[in-house]
Amino acid sequence: MIASIETVKALVDGAERIVVLTGAGVSAESGVPTFRGADGLWNGLRAEDLAHPEAFARDPQKVWDFYNWRRDMLRQCRPNPAHEALAAMEAATPSFNLITQNVDGLHQQAGSESVLELHGNIWRVRCPQCTFKTEDHDVLPPLPKCPGCNALLRPDVVWFGEQLEPGTLHSSVEAAANADILLVIGTSGLVQPAASLADLANRHGAVTVEVNLEPTPNTGFMDFALHGKAGEILPRLMLQPLLIG
Ligand code: OAD
Repeated sequence: MIASIETVKALVDGAERIVVLTGAGVSAESGVPTFRGADGLWNGLRAEDLAHPEAFARDPQKVWDFYNWRRDMLRQCRPNPAHEALAAMEAATPSFNLITQNVDGLHQQAGSESVLELHGNIWRVRCPQCTFKTEDHDVLPPLPKCPGCNALLRPDVVWFGEQLEPGTLHSSVEAAANADILLVIGTSGLVQPAASLADLANRHGAVTVEVNLEPTPNTGFMDFALHGKAGEILPRLMLQPLLIG
């Protein structure tokens, strides 16, 4: 059902356990391209050539060029009012979990602390052969090698066909199952298992609210939908009433 901002704000204000699931749309107003839709990364580029373990085995240079290009672009992006409102929501809520499919780190830059990164983080790099893992914000040399074992390093992100990190998935499922309210913001809801968290929360009795520019495949079973830009809607959920006196 299409809801008013006031209705959703009252639900958020009254909730003790808030869970938020975000997707690329929450970073769109920071200048980060989404994946689907007219300007999306996967409209022109093929995910199976760039975000798949077989692609990395076949042509690691092509995959690293893609990730270095994204790292370079993301270095110029800053959190927008949607990220900032979610950080403020966390600070004002007794129990708050932010689950994100985004790898850009913008939630943390905005001050969010409890962030579950389902698809990893583009600023981290790890060795597939040993335990080496590091984080930096530079564009890396082509085909970076592990300083410990000399294996080819890879971005610490989850590619299609790979398992999510089990602890992160477990915490996300637990949070969704225990939420009073789940806000699903800026995701097309097409990628599993992230997309199923909304259904899970719904079945466990949470109020579910979608914030998106447009309806998605999930809109039908959401309790409420707010259509518009996340960077305009979310700050309005955090507005304090003006006190006269
Ligand atoms: P998508 O690109 O599939 O969807 C982005 C969603 O954000 C769409 O539903 C848009 O309508 C919405 N949107 C765009 N701008 C918005 C705005 N300003 N405010 C609110 N909503 C807006 O991105 P995801 O759903 O995040 O995975 O994609 C999920 C996963 O697929 C990604 O994590 C990535 C991708 O392939 C991997 O690479 C493994």
